[in-house]
Amino acid sequence: MTADLLKAKIRHVPDFPKPGILFYDITTLLRDPAGLGLALDAMAAPYTDAQVDLVVGMESRGFIFGAALADRLKAGFVPVRKPGKLPSRCLSVSYDLEYGSDSLEIHADAIEAGQRVLIVDDLLATGGTARATIDLVSGLGAEIVACAFLVELTFLKGRARLGTTPVHAVLPYDD
Ligand code: PRP
Ligand code: MG
Repeated sequence: MTADLLKAKIRHVPDFPKPGILFYDITTLLRDPAGLGLALDAMAAPYTDAQVDLVVGMESRGFIFGAALADRLKAGFVPVRKPGKLPSRCLSVSYDLEYGSDSLEIHADAIEAGQRVLIVDDLLATGGTARATIDLVSGLGAEIVACAFLVELTFLKGRARLGTTPVHAVLPYDD
């Protein structure tokens, strides 16, 4: 089964980036040509007929899957970046972290009202990154088709923060 095959290619790193955290390291999947292709196939499959105009990917790991998925779906790619990286006029949204807050930005002219957008990232954890991206993309008047992830840490209940936006994750992890 594809999911088991893909999960077998993701390295588990205990106590990274801090004690008690089990890090799901996708670099071991990315370096495997067959694994990368299968992961992209599985992420793209629900959306092949969804008439996606643009894929929005979040810096930095969302860029890896986002641009490749955009190409597969014959869509354009729009980056959501960490503050101060985008050169033209931006829309900015702040979101809460465990300690403190962070913000994300998108170019104000990156999406036209009514364009159909698929939001793509490698992983859904607490949902803060995806929530902020939904707010940015909605702020530009886009129609959000869905959020697509390779990995979902279901025990962190990130989906609950994403409201009515449809969510698809190829590889759910329960612990
Ligand atoms: C990771 C991951 C997601 C986000 C998920 O990114 O790539 O973008 O965390 O967590 P959340 O659902 O709790 O928001 P990170 O901010 O570590 O940066 P990176 O992509 O640049 O590695
Ligand atoms: Mg990220």
